[in-house]
Amino acid sequence: KLQAVLFDLDGVITDTAKYHFIAWKQMAERIGIEIDSEFNESLKGIERMQSLERILIHGHQEQKYSQAEKERLAQEKNEEYVALLANLTPEDTYPGINELLQELRENNIPTVIASASKNAPLILEALQLKSYFHGIVDPGGIPGKPEPDIFLKAAEQVGADPMCCIGIEDSQAGIEAIKAAGMYAVGIGEENILGPSGADIVYPSTRELALQRLLVAAHLE
Ligand code: G6P
Ligand code: MG
Repeated sequence: KLQAVLFDLDGVITDTAKYHFIAWKQMAERIGIEIDSEFNESLKGIERMQSLERILIHGHQEQKYSQAEKERLAQEKNEEYVALLANLTPEDTYPGINELLQELRENNIPTVIASASKNAPLILEALQLKSYFHGIVDPGGIPGKPEPDIFLKAAEQVGADPMCCIGIEDSQAGIEAIKAAGMYAVGIGEENILGPSGADIVYPSTRELALQRLLVAAHLE
């Protein structure tokens, strides 16, 4: 029986994956590195400093900056990103998400945010969705996705057995993390991107998310 639904945030609850990409792209361009949407798939779900490392490797600049300079670059990206979040309102919640959260609440199924983002509380506040979640995992000090830790912690926060949890993700690293945690993985996006990472089912949009459908697909009725 289903015991909890664990949600990634960026790219699942709302379109902030787009803002991460815009902010990284601008920062990268300033240091002469070009990033495209295909490379961006490998950044999704990845923690801030790790993302920067990947960008520097991509641009063959991994030896160029000191730790302090890297922190500065990551900080610039975050400032840019947070500025883009300023206009976020409840209308920016992806279609189907409010309805799913409502259904989960009516059925007493706990929900937890399992995101690598330090901006998660800010975003949930802006979307006015905080009260729907039983917890937000603090990603600090634990291994990031694709390691299973964030999802395992999310399950633990509500006392759920990982085998009876559904995780919802838009990133390759996130799908891998859900599977490594022994959970049922729902991908939001393209089958040819998320299928190879191990997604159990892929929906093109959050519109497709409905409790009954998930229960049947995951065999957790
Ligand atoms: C999520 C996003 C990543 C982002 C990471 C850290 O996993 O998918 O694109 O880099 O969070 O976010 P933050 O807001 O802490 O920089
Ligand atoms: Mg995501």
